[in-house]
Amino acid sequence: MSSSVRVTRTSSSRLSETALETAQFGTIFSDHMLIANFENGQWREAEIIPYGPLPLPPAPIALHHGQTVFEGLKAHRTLDGRIAMFRPSENCARLNRSAARLVMPEVPASLFLNGIAELVRLDREWIPEREGGALYIRPVYFAIDESLQVRPSSQYRLVVLTCPVGPYFAGRINLVVEERYVRAFPGGTGDIKPAGNYAGSLLASCEAQERGYQNVLWLDGIERRFIEECGMMNVFFVIDGAVVTPPLSGTILPGVTRDSVLTLLRDMGKTIEERPVAIDEVFELYAAGRLTEAAGVGTAATIAPIGRIGYRNREIELAPVGSDSLLERVRMKLEAIRTGRETDRHSWLMYL
Ligand SMILES: Cc1ncc(COP(=O)(O)O)c(C=O)c1O
Repeated sequence: MSSSVRVTRTSSSRLSETALETAQFGTIFSDHMLIANFENGQWREAEIIPYGPLPLPPAPIALHHGQTVFEGLKAHRTLDGRIAMFRPSENCARLNRSAARLVMPEVPASLFLNGIAELVRLDREWIPEREGGALYIRPVYFAIDESLQVRPSSQYRLVVLTCPVGPYFAGRINLVVEERYVRAFPGGTGDIKPAGNYAGSLLASCEAQERGYQNVLWLDGIERRFIEECGMMNVFFVIDGAVVTPPLSGTILPGVTRDSVLTLLRDMGKTIEERPVAIDEVFELYAAGRLTEAAGVGTAATIAPIGRIGYRNREIELAPVGSDSLLERVRMKLEAIRTGRETDRHSWLMYL
C-alpha cells in the first residue's frame, strides 16, 4: 500500500524484552507515533516521529469541552511470520461516525489506513511473540483551537500511538449491576467513542472495584432494567443453547468484535437473538439452569468469560468455561483466523 507519510526515526530505541513480556495493558509505548493535522480546511501530510511529549497550549477545545474521540485496534503476528491488522477499516469507519457526531471533519481512510500501516511496519519489533500478544493501536483525534467558546474547533490533530500488549484479563470477569449511574441514554453518545464516555464511567468502575468486582454491567438509562454493556465491552449470553446479545439501539457501541462474533456464530449455524435482555430475566434463567454462559467481548480482551454477577443483595456464579463451551469455541475460531490457522473467509485481516 503506498503512503505519503514523512518518517523521522528515533535515534535510540526503547525496545526491551521486559517491555514486550511484562507490560501492563496500555502502559508502555512503542518508539514512534503518527501525527496528522487538519488546518485551514484540509489535512496536512502525516508524519511519523519518535514517541514523546507534544506541545499543548493551555486552552485547546479538546481539553476544556471534550471534543475528542478515539479508537482501539490491534496488529499481530500470524503463524507464517507475517503481520496483520484486524478489520482496521471498521475502526476507521467508527472513528468517522464518532467524529461526525462531535462535528469534527472526516479522517480520510487512506490517511488512517496507510499511516497506521506505516507506523506498525516501522515498530514491528514491538509486536510480542507470545500467545495472545499484539500491538494495540490507539488513534486519538482531538480539537486544538485555543478557545473557551463552546463551538466546534477549526483545527484538529490525529495522533496514533501503539503499545505491546498481552491478554487483557487473566481469567473470568466479575461484574456488579450498576443501578445508580448510566453509561448512555437515547440521543446521547453511547454508540460512539468520545473520551467523555470513559471519564463518565470511572466512578462506577471504581465503586465496583471497592466492592470486589472488576467492572459493572450497565443497564439502560430509562428503565434501568435492560442490560446494555459490560464495562467497556459488549455482552453476550448463552440461553437454552442460543446466543443472545442486546440490539444496537443507539446506546450501545457497535463493537467490531461483537460483529465478528455474530458473523462466526452465523457461519457455525447457531441461533442468534439480538434482543433486549432484562437483568431479572438473567437471574431467573440462571436459577432455572437455562443460562449457561456469559461473556464480555471487545478488542482488548477478545472474549472474556463472566464469572460472578452481583445485583442488589444477590449474586450468581456461572460455571467455568471448558473448551466445549460455545463462546470459548468462537474465541478459538477467532484466534485461528487471526493467526492464519483458519481461512480468513471474510477478509478481516489486512496484511502489512
Ligand atoms: C463501550 C465499549 N463497548 C464495546 C467495545 C468493544 O468494541 P470493539 O470490539 O470494537 O473493541 C468497546 C471498545 O472499543 C467499548 O469501549
